[in-house]
Amino acid sequence: MTGELFSEERSAEVVAESFAGTPDPRLRQVLTSLVRHLHDFVKDVELTEAEWETAIGFLTDTGQTCTPTRQEFILLSDVLGLSMLVETINHRTGGTATESTVLGPFHMVVSPARELGDDIALDGKGTPCLVSGQVTGPDGDPLPGATVDVWQTNEDGFYDVQQPDVQPAGNLRGIFTTDDEGRFWFRSVVPRYYPIPDDGPVGQLLAATGRHPNRPAHLHFIAQAEGYRSVTTHVFVADSPYLDSDAVFGVKDSLVREVPVVDDPARAAQVGLANPFRTLTFDLSLLPV
Ligand code: BEZ
Ligand code: FE
Repeated sequence: MTGELFSEERSAEVVAESFAGTPDPRLRQVLTSLVRHLHDFVKDVELTEAEWETAIGFLTDTGQTCTPTRQEFILLSDVLGLSMLVETINHRTGGTATESTVLGPFHMVVSPARELGDDIALDGKGTPCLVSGQVTGPDGDPLPGATVDVWQTNEDGFYDVQQPDVQPAGNLRGIFTTDDEGRFWFRSVVPRYYPIPDDGPVGQLLAATGRHPNRPAHLHFIAQAEGYRSVTTHVFVADSPYLDSDAVFGVKDSLVREVPVVDDPARAAQVGLANPFRTLTFDLSLLPV
């Protein structure tokens, strides 16, 4: 016999050795590390057979909850902070560009192209808000022709894709192209905090651990410009509940903005919003590729 037999003490090494012939070195590295951490974990908590069965049942339910429009495994990754960790280590900015955060599951449709100044609140509900900003490179050089893809909830805390019978398709989403100075602006409403889908296994996990399912109010952005790394991020509303307990750990200090009230009928008429209205300014800075 050539191979070492399984033992409690050397379990990870024995299993890792079975992957030693993996031709792809990265796959070998990932599997070896995964086995080591999994075995350490089981030994650390002395996992019982009943707990192992519960875990297998939970993962099975998680898979069976996935549909073409619902990805429960990503949601699980989100509430474990894994999505944010992967996002963060793959998009380090060194403090020189807009920080990224999770994409989330509600970017499942292509946003409609919009003109600067358009109103994306197609149902006319909510607290009016003028959203504006500038897309630049890291030194502040404006990026004309950049695209800014935005999507957000209505004031009830739902995305259009969650309420196809209630909200018009494309409500509160759109793709804008920046002007000669890299600027964008559009009319919308103030987004509201909302719960992530919590009627499946991930919701059961949150309930069993006394965690709430809510995300603070935010507006999603994907900014892209030729020759620059695109950024997937949000801007968070400064006075929103749950800013310090986001169910998916997406909040970063650099992404929080005040959304002040403007009470100025002349300005409201100029921008085409009812008076008073709120303003949300979010500049995005991209790194060269
Ligand atoms: C979202 O912001 O749309 C989101 C992100 C992660 C999980 C659920 C929702
Ligand atoms: Fe969201």
